[in-house]
Amino acid sequence: MYDGVYSDKVIDHFTNPRNVGEIENPDGVGTVGNAKCGDIMRIYLDIDPETKVIRDCKFKTFGCGAAVASSSMATEMVKGKTIYEALEVTNKAVMEALDGLPQVKIHCSLLAEEAIHAALWDYAEKNNIKIEGLRKPKKDVHDEE
Ligand code: FES
Repeated sequence: MYDGVYSDKVIDHFTNPRNVGEIENPDGVGTVGNAKCGDIMRIYLDIDPETKVIRDCKFKTFGCGAAVASSSMATEMVKGKTIYEALEVTNKAVMEALDGLPQVKIHCSLLAEEAIHAALWDYAEKNNIKIEGLRKPKKDVHDEE
């Protein structure tokens, strides 16, 4: 039915997404969209104030299957990392972990990366800290395609 376009991991994370939902009073929250396809993703972070470790991460995605699978994988990957290490969770890293995405779906994983960055940015602003290497996220990732 999928004609081999999507890897087993993508199908698994789409049909059984991890970390769906919201965190009440999150330490950081970020929302990004893509005006072209109309998809929107929101990421919530729960961060240990002492160690800066991401204790929990949840997402809500109003978007395509690849965006759901990317958010699911990305949230799994940032959990247990510090806010600094979380920057390693790039869209490339997410795609690799998913065993690849079709060319036209690469921007879906970019949405996950940007939503995490937006949530980290929110946390940094609220706590008046600087996360080295983190740039101000865009609300719309469409421009980068
Ligand atoms: Fe836009 Fe997937 S088609 S996020």
